[in-house]
Amino acid sequence: MPTPYDQVLYTGAPFPQTHPDRLATLAHLFGMKPAAVEHCRVLELGCTDGGNLIPMALALPESDFVGIDLSERAVEAGERIIRDLKLTNIELRAGDIMDVDSAWGQFDFIIAHGVFSWVPAPVREQILRISKQNLAPQGVSYISYNAQPGGHLRTMIRDMMLFHARGLVDPAERVARARELIAFLVAHTPDCADGYRGFLRKELEGILERDPNVLFHDELSEVWQPVFFHQFVSQAAAHGLQYLSEAAYSDTQDKAFGDSAAETLRSWGEPRVVREQYLDFLKCRRFRQTLLCHDRARLNAEPASAAIETLYASSSATMTAAENGVKTFEGERGSSVKTSHPVATSTLERLTGSWPRAIHFDELAGHVGPEHRHEQADILLALFGAGLVQLHIWRAGFAAVPGEYPVASPLARLQAEAGSALTTLRHTTIDAKGPLERRLITLLDGTHDRADLERELRPLRPDSAAEAFREEVANNLLKAAHLALLTG
Ligand SMILES: C[S@@+](CC[C@H](N)C(=O)[O-])C[C@H]1O[C@@H](n2cnc3c(N)ncnc32)[C@H](O)[C@@H]1O
Repeated sequence: MPTPYDQVLYTGAPFPQTHPDRLATLAHLFGMKPAAVEHCRVLELGCTDGGNLIPMALALPESDFVGIDLSERAVEAGERIIRDLKLTNIELRAGDIMDVDSAWGQFDFIIAHGVFSWVPAPVREQILRISKQNLAPQGVSYISYNAQPGGHLRTMIRDMMLFHARGLVDPAERVARARELIAFLVAHTPDCADGYRGFLRKELEGILERDPNVLFHDELSEVWQPVFFHQFVSQAAAHGLQYLSEAAYSDTQDKAFGDSAAETLRSWGEPRVVREQYLDFLKCRRFRQTLLCHDRARLNAEPASAAIETLYASSSATMTAAENGVKTFEGERGSSVKTSHPVATSTLERLTGSWPRAIHFDELAGHVGPEHRHEQADILLALFGAGLVQLHIWRAGFAAVPGEYPVASPLARLQAEAGSALTTLRHTTIDAKGPLERRLITLLDGTHDRADLERELRPLRPDSAAEAFREEVANNLLKAAHLALLTG
């Protein structure tokens, strides 16, 4: 029977927070011995068209990937890409999560992204059952879900939309009607409104920006169940699973709220779960990406900085100010640090200057001197907690500069033929809007040098001066390398 996901396709995408590298890195930091990312087994529940799993399989040819999704249409779309890429280490199965049993074997990493809160209670229980029964002893399971208390706010707007779309069955009509209400509310809520109306306006604008297909499957879905973090952890514990970390480690940290808040939270909240529950109240948390492992796995209370010494680090932050020896670095999601500490500054300068390449700790330590090794590991851990540095147990392969005959990832080449959303070799998505950008990527199969590329692309820029055109092509190639789209 066709599902709502057959009616309205939910296009998959790569989620770096679900990548085996991220899951294994966090497991390693908390003292586990996760499987090697290069030789692991991964199961994704609700994998849709393989948008997340296929790039993993491409990057990790010695690892095995299995995905399951109820939507036959989504699975068929994924199978076409798998065939085009000639991948033999991935299988997408059209089926029900309820039918996964122990015969599927054990997996080192199990992923359920964007599924848990949108399926009925028996399927939620089954996702946790699989996370136990099919998880290798040192395995990690990733489950994302709508969290409280922020879920209350989203439920309020969901209920308004459901009321306005009542009686409608056709997906396009439901979405159009829901958006009509949101547009009406925005139009009659002034920009400068405060209190309830100010909050409402901000929420509503966010909804209007969303892809209508996503809105249909998210807030307008039949099931939409947020839970408090502590409830989720208790439910997981009933299945013999324990909390490991959030996939975004910086989300677990309280330092951004200042020493006094951190002290109060610590006095109210040990173990970590209680402290983090209070953090959710502070942040009005609405979504969680929680990692679980077997309850018998022995975990350190906090990551030990010594564990960093075998890892790679990367940073997409940029230095935004330097005054009187104090440098400010700003990273993603509002993270920032001001420092005059020579080891911290040198480490950050090295990492940000090498972005998107990850650098092994030994190389970083070699740069500041072995006498600072332990101090540097402590600093990296603090920067990781602050969200300015990402740690990796595995280094993604991509070319820092385009070769003489440049080569783009075969998946990005395929995607560029069809649209603008391209998967990078860092397991992220970029939006290649311009036709020249996209056409260039399709040509990067290792058989064209600069002159060939310029000849092929020239019809797209008939009026451009020769020098300016050459520069545009060269800049686009450099940009593709910087975005981690090239293998050579
Ligand atoms: C919101 S989408 C998320 C897809 C993908 N994980 C992502 O985040 O991009 C939820 C997916 O779960 C699938 N799904 C829902 N219930 C399922 C079930 N009982 N068995 C298998 N797949 C299911 C849907 O078909 C859909 O593709």
